[in-house]
Amino acid sequence: MENFTAPEHRPRRLRRTPALRRLVAETRLHPADLILPLFVKEGIGEPSAITSMPGVVQHTRDSLKRAAAQAISAGVGGLMLFGIPAHRDSIGSGATDPDGILNVALRDLKSEFGDAAVLMADLCLDEFTDHGHCGVLTASGAVDNDATVKRYQEMGIAQAAAGADVVGPSGMMDGQVGAIRSSLDAAGYTDTVILAYAAKYASAFYGPFREAVDSALTGDRRSYQQDSANRRESLREVALDIAEGADVVMVKPAMSYLDIVADVAGSVDVPVAAYQVSGEYSMIEAAAARGWIDRNRAIVESLLSIQRAGASLTLTYWAAEVAGWLNQEA
Ligand code: PBG
Repeated sequence: MENFTAPEHRPRRLRRTPALRRLVAETRLHPADLILPLFVKEGIGEPSAITSMPGVVQHTRDSLKRAAAQAISAGVGGLMLFGIPAHRDSIGSGATDPDGILNVALRDLKSEFGDAAVLMADLCLDEFTDHGHCGVLTASGAVDNDATVKRYQEMGIAQAAAGADVVGPSGMMDGQVGAIRSSLDAAGYTDTVILAYAAKYASAFYGPFREAVDSALTGDRRSYQQDSANRRESLREVALDIAEGADVVMVKPAMSYLDIVADVAGSVDVPVAAYQVSGEYSMIEAAAARGWIDRNRAIVESLLSIQRAGASLTLTYWAAEVAGWLNQEA
């Protein structure tokens, strides 16, 4: 090439060796930033596989303790519990029953691990209602916002009493964070943290989760979860939750909503979490099982993208496994 001039700038210099790349990496994964969601089911004798989420199970109370112990020893930052009751009803009674599966499991883990684990609980009625919606219904079948929020207040107190360090309201009812905060405070649980699912979209990527919790839902949650077409709306949802007392705000799902993660991270002064949801997990597992992508590299890349967008905490079903990899590297 006659007219070729050697470039003056060579960004590739910093990519030459693994050691150089490691040195200049702008983001790094750390076990403490990863939160493991766990499912516990009432009345089963053995852990039960979730077909659409290979490697994830519905736990018994015993197997939950073992999985929690393993995740804690790998150094994960927290555990987020979901309960699957043996019986459901229209108001989700199992959610507020101190002997309901989620509350029992919280007590199990709190007595086993104390403050060595940050114990979180999904605060929502969908696993506990016979219709599968996140709240209670009006006579005509709509989700009744204010009646639901009252149930959430009771649920938050039940979870705090059972040992939850963090409650995670995920139902997208208006005013839920403020209502839960004031009822927790009134009951003396002023130290219970609220991780608000602040910007939560109605998403097809929750598909495998429906199997994971034996969901009774027919239809969808579009009358309360956000429309994927919207971006600015998330800033409103997040601002409201922070004004109502949210300690941490979450964006969910993660992968298709990284613009939202970046917007939120750039606009708030509380920690920002993102939830890499069931469908994100299953897509990578399914493609990897066919040999179409490199599983471990895809997992790391997906988690880095979430962190790069600005999340400081990530909920991921790979939390314990990835924490194990990171410990080996260190
Ligand atoms: C509500 C809740 C859902 C998820 C977390 N909390 C289901 C929903 O909103 O439909 C989905 C998590 C996932 O897909 O991994 N209890």
